[in-house]
This record gives sequence, C-alpha cells and structure tokens, in this order.
Amino acid sequence: MNKNVKQLYNIASKPSRTIIGLMSGTSLDGLDVALCNITGNGVNTKITISEYTTVSYDDDFKKEIKTVFSKEEVNLQKICLLNEWVAKKHAAMINKCLLDWKINSTDIDLIASHGQTIYHAPLSLHGLEKFGNGTLQIGDGDHLAINTGIITISDFRQKHIAAGGEGAPLAAYGDYLMFKEENCDVVLLNIGGISNITYLPCKQQTHLMFSSDIGPGNTLMDGWMQQIFPGIFYDNDAAVARRGTINEVLLKNLLDNDFLKAALPKSTGPELFNQIYLKKAIETSAMFEITTEDVMATLNRFTAQTIVDAIQPLIKFNTLKIYVSGGGMHNPMIMDYLKSNLTGATFHSTNEKNINPDTKEAVLFAILANECIAGQIETFPNGLKNFPQVSMGKISFPS
Ligand SMILES: Nc1ncnc2c1ncn2[C@@H]1O[C@H](COP(=O)(O)OP(=O)(O)O)[C@@H](O)[C@H]1O
Ligand SMILES: [Mg+2]
Repeated sequence: MNKNVKQLYNIASKPSRTIIGLMSGTSLDGLDVALCNITGNGVNTKITISEYTTVSYDDDFKKEIKTVFSKEEVNLQKICLLNEWVAKKHAAMINKCLLDWKINSTDIDLIASHGQTIYHAPLSLHGLEKFGNGTLQIGDGDHLAINTGIITISDFRQKHIAAGGEGAPLAAYGDYLMFKEENCDVVLLNIGGISNITYLPCKQQTHLMFSSDIGPGNTLMDGWMQQIFPGIFYDNDAAVARRGTINEVLLKNLLDNDFLKAALPKSTGPELFNQIYLKKAIETSAMFEITTEDVMATLNRFTAQTIVDAIQPLIKFNTLKIYVSGGGMHNPMIMDYLKSNLTGATFHSTNEKNINPDTKEAVLFAILANECIAGQIETFPNGLKNFPQVSMGKISFPS
C-alpha cells in the first residue's frame, strides 16, 4: 500500500483527529485558522478548538487577489500564477501559526482548506443555459500539502456543484451536525462578505431544512469605504454609517433586484453585489449629491433589511434561536436592527456550543474534512435542494 494512503487510513481509523480548518471569504480580510480536535463523525461529532486566529492579508496580498477577484475578464497567466502563490502564502501562514502555538506539523492530521474564491458563477448570475453553476477557489491543495508537510483536503465546492448544488453555501453540513435542536427551530446567520443562513427546523423535520445566501453582507459597505477612504478597509463599528441618514429612495432601488426576490435556496457573490450595483442604484435614484455618510447608512440598512426579509418568515409558532457569526456581527448598527426587527427570535452566541463565532466558518471546513475522511454521507438528509448528499474535498498528500 502507498504509505500516504496507509497514513490516511490510520487517520481515518482514529477515534479523534487534529484538523486545521481554514477559511478566507470574499471580504479578503485574512485567513481564518482554527486548530480543532474532532472526535467521532456525523451526529456524534465533538469539537474542541484549542487555538484560532485570523492572519490578516497584507496590502500586497489583497492587491494581487483584487487583480482577478470577481472580474469577468482577467489575465489568465495571473490566475495560473496566483493558484500556486496563494497556496504558498497560506502554507507560510499555517507554518507561522504552528510555530507561535508551539505545535509540530507532525501532530496535525489534516488541513481543511477552503481556498480563496476568485469567482462564483451560479446559473442565476450568468444565465447561459448551456452551462451550469460554476465557482473557482484558488490556492491549490498540493502546494499546501508539500509546503506544510500535512495531508490537505481542499476545493470542497466542486463536488457540491457536480452533484447538483450551486457550490454555496456549504455551512449547512457542519451547522446541521453541530446546531440542530429537538425542541426549537434554529437559524445560523453568517454575515461575511455575503450573508447566508442555515435553517434547522425542530423535531428532525429535515425535509424543511435549507441553506441559502441572502445578499450582501459586508461587501458593499467595505467596497464603499475602500473607495472613499483609501487604506481604510471597513466601517469600524459603523462609525461612518451612524453619521448618515438612510436614504429611502436609494434603499428601495438597492432592494429592487431579481436575486433578492428569487426563492431560497440560492447563492451569490461580489460578482453581483459590487460597486457597479451601487452606482446603478444611485443613478436610478438620481441621488448625485448624496453624502458619503448617507450612502454608508443606506448600505448598512440594505444589508440588515435583506437579512430581516429572509429570516422573518422562519419565525413561526416555535421559538426561533438565531446564532450569528461572521465579521458583520461586530457591526452594531446591523445587529441593533436585526434584534429590534426580528422580535420572536432570540439571539445566541455559538460560544454556547463551544465554537467561537469568529472562527465558526473555519471550523465548519474542518468538520467537512473530517466527514470526507471518516464520515458517511447517509449522515445528511437526502433529496434537499442545494444540499447534495455527498462527501466533499480533494485529498493532497505531502509527498
Ligand atoms: N468592528 C467591526 N465593525 C464593523 N464591521 C466589522 C467589524 N469587524 C469586522 N467587520 C466586518 O467583517 C468583515 C470580515 O468578515 P468575515 O466574516 O471575515 O468575512 P469573509 O468570510 O467574507 O472573509 C470585515 O471586512 C468588516 O466588514
Ligand atoms: Mg474573513
């Protein structure tokens, strides 16, 4: 037997595994790294997170990714080079984390790498019937494995698409294992660059569960900040938005979009929700004199309103528990609006389940890698839209 396969077999046979989960979303803020110990698999999965951090991307990294990020036309050579370069950078970040944490790479069983999304193209975006759903994450797993010496599971989204999904969101799989409850409906809300929800109805009503993107999370607000205040990445604590007034005409035009009206589940990205989207809405509103602060206040409400519109119908007779994660949970204006408009729901921290909300997405990929190696696809419900019953991820060996 090939020694790599033998090692993988041994890892799969162990009662528990040490897995580094990685997530780098569309915000391009950094690489989330979570060191997880995962015992068991499927509904018996138990997780302990011993270390986590976000390694911020430096200006050069952001600049290079932005040369291709969510652009329809790009330099193909650049993508070819970035695929390896991003992996090497990520590997260096992981190696540095391990050094800081005083942990040897031989103590890690697996890396679960999401990769850096550079384009997400569901059919609803491109409308080309001849083609299906598409998505592209770069930062190749082979380079990660060689440069860290750790078996790497990567590129999770392609299997989802191959099996009939849109490739996003994938959070539902881990959410289902870690957060479903018998006596209460649960929503997991993640406000990253794009916001998404997983709905887990109570009493094992798995036929009703779903996971869907909702609309822009932070991406439009971040883009506006970066355009107006070069060098500033986001509206820290909604300081700029607080100084503005919501412009109802602009808000109405921002909300007037086919994606937002389409039924759940669905997926999207900055390919749709970008500064051109904002510019068009400003033009349609004939708001040429609008202040920076008013635009920011309106974008803030736009994000919050799309979330309220998606979650409101899920508040039924049962109590709805909402767990919020992602950087947008630190935006007080968004959170205040959600709390005062989703009455009937209670807000909780994923810390209640021993998962820090800042690292939840990275942990979810560690869970997917654990399922890829040690799980059974029957763990998950079958036949749900955008939730194919498959194990995801490609395996890269370090030698
Ligand atoms: N204190 C804060 N105030 C407002 N926004 C914040 C704050 N902290 C983080 N954010 C937002 O969260 C974003 C990062 O969120 P994250 O969950 O990492 O998204 P992604 O998964 O797309 O990388 C930042 O770009 C910023 O918009
Ligand atoms: Mg991030």
